[in-house]
Amino acid sequence: MITLNSEGVVFIHDHPGRVPTPTVPLPYTLRHFQKGDGPAWDALLDTAFGGRHERASLCSQTRRSQDLWVPERTHFAVLRGVPVSVATACETEWKGKPAGAFGWVGTHPEHRRKGLARAVCAACLLWLAKQGRSRVVVCTGPDLPGAIQLYLSLGFVPDTEAARAAMKKMGLVPEEDGA
Ligand SMILES: CC(C)(COP(=O)(O)OP(=O)(O)OC[C@H]1O[C@@H](n2cnc3c(N)ncnc32)[C@H](O)[C@@H]1OP(=O)(O)O)[C@@H](O)C(=O)NCCC(=O)NCCS
Repeated sequence: MITLNSEGVVFIHDHPGRVPTPTVPLPYTLRHFQKGDGPAWDALLDTAFGGRHERASLCSQTRRSQDLWVPERTHFAVLRGVPVSVATACETEWKGKPAGAFGWVGTHPEHRRKGLARAVCAACLLWLAKQGRSRVVVCTGPDLPGAIQLYLSLGFVPDTEAARAAMKKMGLVPEEDGA
């Protein structure tokens, strides 16, 4: 189980089972992890995070060390068999209650703004809903406006002061602060 920082930039989603069925534009397709995808998964995260290896290696560690990891947790958008966007679902607790989470979200820079990350994140939401998780939590960085916009576009709402502050810094008004 991963532990989320309760003072971090945390967003929550309370209707993971209601997100629309994810689709990607052709010739991209969606699938979960298959045997042999490990090196491509690591390489994709290295590229997506610009060589910030500590993040990318977290992903392989997830696969290697989590007893609970199963291939269905890791969702890819692929082009001609090669993963170009990824997100991985996992379990967590939020405010003392079981919740779902996903992370290690990344799209290869040459394939961005095509809806691929939105689709793999939506696939994680639906998978977590099937596992009985009615609340899904994501944690991101205050310096990642693209990721914050992505989560907002999926229906997430801010759940910490840090998340609301990050939105305000981007010129966005969290709903409860609105007029
Ligand atoms: C953030 C990231 C995963 C987005 O991947 P993507 O496949 O380009 O995202 P999508 O095309 O699915 O975008 C869906 C929505 O997210 C938002 N979004 C995505 N990237 C954005 C950006 N750079 N700036 C503003 N909004 C952005 C938009 O609302 C977008 O919808 P639109 O294109 O219809 O406007 C990708 O830029 C990436 O890999 N970044 C580096 C790693 C990272 O920051 N991961 C998240 C860590 S929590």
